[in-house]
Parts: sequence; structure tokens; C-alpha cells
Amino acid sequence: MQRATIVGLGKMGTALAEALLRASASVTVWNRTPARAERLVASGAKLGSTLASAIEASDVVIVSLSGYAATLGVLGAADAGAALHGRTLIQLSSGTPKEAREAATWAAQLGASYLDGAILAYPMHIGTDRAQILASGPSALFDAHEALLRQLGSPQFVGDSPGAASALDCAALGGSILNIVGLLYGIAVCEAEQVDPQQLVTMLNARLAGRADLNRALAEAARTGSYGNPQASLETWAAVVDHLADISTDRRLSGAVPSFLHGLFDQARERGLGQADIASLVEVLR
Ligand SMILES: NC(=O)c1ccc[n+]([C@@H]2O[C@H](COP(=O)([O-])OP(=O)(O)OC[C@H]3O[C@@H](n4cnc5c(N)ncnc54)[C@H](OP(=O)(O)O)[C@@H]3O)[C@@H](O)[C@H]2O)c1
Repeated sequence: MQRATIVGLGKMGTALAEALLRASASVTVWNRTPARAERLVASGAKLGSTLASAIEASDVVIVSLSGYAATLGVLGAADAGAALHGRTLIQLSSGTPKEAREAATWAAQLGASYLDGAILAYPMHIGTDRAQILASGPSALFDAHEALLRQLGSPQFVGDSPGAASALDCAALGGSILNIVGLLYGIAVCEAEQVDPQQLVTMLNARLAGRADLNRALAEAARTGSYGNPQASLETWAAVVDHLADISTDRRLSGAVPSFLHGLFDQARERGLGQADIASLVEVLR
């Protein structure tokens, strides 16, 4: 029977432990606040009396804490660090690529094998294919633990650099945040102009299929630096930003979105990119 220890029983750690219990694994848990383990213990998990004993109960230790600082704070204790020697540590707390690289170095110093991971899912999706789990580090280590990670969701190896999973996580979530803000700003514009925002949603949803082609075209232009002969120049797009700024002033909406966009477009103009494709904005962002 697969044995795993989960360190951290917040919303995500609890969901991870529940999924492993459903998959009939032998699960040991530890949390700073032990009361959060009660329901899991009632479902068959073992509660480590100390963190070190929880780590020693399994070959694989999965961490889901608020971040890397909490991870180092918890696992940095001498007895916990010693217990990690010869074991595999899978870090599923969110963080930055730099934190992941530092954690990999720290784990190596303890004599632990280290995989860094990032979860792109809500706790309710853990244990299903909808839970995308990115992993980076030694590929052989991923191969050895892929079956375990598959009990938690849909694992995907994304590179041998330890920071790769968190880089992709941050990049994808950054894009999601910008999309969400874009939609909410569009809703505010519609409301201010007495247009039913549902029309905007329907319109945007109808364009979703074409989004995949657009993403590929933008990435290819960014990769090759070919921004010439666009269907619409950056100046043409900049006029849209001016219109949004005018609507925001006229209807007393927040100017935050147009100001942010003006900042980007102004820098692109200063670089002489006015007649280039909108993909050339990447030159400002790089
Ligand atoms: N929830 C989501 O939808 C989601 C999705 C993807 C990724 N994640 C990532 O998963 C990780 C956990 O998220 P969560 O939603 O489970 O958060 P949460 O419910 O707030 O739980 C946080 C966990 O971290 C522990 N913790 C915080 N500071 C600590 C410290 N200084 N020392 C020891 N333990 C500490 C808490 O222990 P106590 O119980 O003792 O407070 C708890 O176990 C985060 O990195 C988050 O970004 C979450």
C-alpha cells in the first residue's frame, strides 16, 4: 500500500489527504493546529504526534502550506530536517520560481529528493482530472511518483528546473487575473451605458474558440519578433484605450484599467512600435 505524509491541513492539504484516503493509501498527516486533522483521523488517517514522526511514517512527504516561508519555518526544525534525509519531498505550496530553486537546494543539503509542484485547481477538484498538477525537478523522480500524483489529479511534468512549475503557475494565473479584470471592467462599461452585460458575456464566449489560434499567433510573433504588416497597428489599438479612458471619465468609472493600458502603449510608442503588431507589446513587457 502506498504510504504518504501530508504536511499542512488547510483547505488544499485536507483535500489532498482525502483524495489519498479515497485511493486507499496509508496517509499520515501533520498540521500546526492539530484540531484540523480530526475529520481525517476519523476517516482513517494517522496523526503524527510530532512532525518528525509524521515524516518518518512515509517515504513521500507532500507539503501544502501557505507558502515557502511557512514550509521552511516548519521543516527547518532540526528533527524534521533530519527525518527528511533519504525521503522524497513534494512541495505543492504556491510560490515563486526563485523560492522553488532555493527550496530544491535546501532539500538537497538535507539529503532529500525534491519535486516542486503547483496546483491549478480548487480543493473541490482534487482527486479528479480537473485538478492540474504541474511538477518540475528530476524527471526520474516525477516518473517514480506519477502514480501517487495521479491520485490527486492530472499530473504534468513541465521541466527539470525546479522553478518551472511555479513559473508556469504564476504565468497562467497572471493571465487569468488580467482576463477576469478585463471582463469585470467590460461589465462596468456596459452597466454605465445601460447595455445588458449578458450580451458582452455571450459575445466573448462566442469568440473563445478563436482564442486558441490567437494565442498561438501572438506567441509565435513574440518568439520570432515579426511584428510587421499587421491587420491593425498598435496605434489603432491605442485608440481603443483612448475611448475606454473617455468612457471612464464620462461615466465616472475607475480609470485604473485605461491608465495601466496607456502606460504600456506609451512605452511601446516611445520605442517606435506605433505601426507594429500588438504582439510587439511583449518588447515592453520583457
Ligand atoms: N485553496 C485553493 O484553491 C488553492 C489552489 C491552488 C493552490 N493552493 C495553494 O495551496 C496552499 C495551501 O492553501 P490553502 O487553501 O490550503 O490555505 P489555508 O486553508 O489558508 O491553509 C494554510 C495552511 O498553512 C498552514 N500555515 C500557515 N502559516 C503557517 C506557519 N507559519 N507555520 C505552520 N503552518 C502554517 C496552516 O496551518 P494552521 O491550520 O495551523 O493555520 C494551514 O495548514 C497555498 O500555497 C495555496 O496557494 C490553494
